[in-house]
Amino acid sequence: MGADLGLTTSPDNIAPYVPGSAMGVRAVFLVGFMASGKSSVGQELARRLDWDFVDLDARIESRERQTVPEIFRDRGEPGFRLAETSALRDLLTESLQPNRVVALGGGAFVQEGNRELLRQWPSVFLEAPASELWQRSLLDGVERPLREDPDQFAQLYAERLPFYRQASVVVETTGKPLASICVEIEGALQLRTPEDAGSGLSRIDLTSFGTGESQ
Ligand code: S3P
Repeated sequence: MGADLGLTTSPDNIAPYVPGSAMGVRAVFLVGFMASGKSSVGQELARRLDWDFVDLDARIESRERQTVPEIFRDRGEPGFRLAETSALRDLLTESLQPNRVVALGGGAFVQEGNRELLRQWPSVFLEAPASELWQRSLLDGVERPLREDPDQFAQLYAERLPFYRQASVVVETTGKPLASICVEIEGALQLRTPEDAGSGLSRIDLTSFGTGESQ
């Protein structure tokens, strides 16, 4: 666990959930290796919370007017990393709207500067064994410049694991349906879905965490 979530059950901290409010957690960042489910979990979590979903790779592609594989081909990995950090910085400083679930690309959280940019924000590492991620990566049809063969894939994952594990929350995803993964994230970050609010369930408002006020 990296960031201190400051979770407390003090009744003083209980506040009503207000969708679209600038109070409390306004964004959650999903991190993890290729094919770890960042986009599918992110979309489902956003749907459940009635938040918006942002895919950082899609932001990069629209800012650069090139696909990720094209950026790798023309500028190499260093050029892609520059574009990635620039898109992340822009997202955090210029264009982050309240209540966003953001899926990062598999290498984004590995870069120290990016982790520093995200220090104030709740991050969730979606963990699964490399062999399973390799199998999933063969099925999802996404072209990934950094995926070569199972050994290289597993080696890269092993190198990155210590960085992913610095996320605020780690969720093991193997064999779990999307809904259970989302329930775990909601529980760990004390996020309330509109259904929770309707049922009168009280959860904790993390007013001091993830509002970006110190960004
Ligand atoms: C990368 C993962 C990709 C994409 C780029 C680099 C990586 O995103 O950002 O190809 O370094 O692992 P996904 O994790 O969504 O595949």
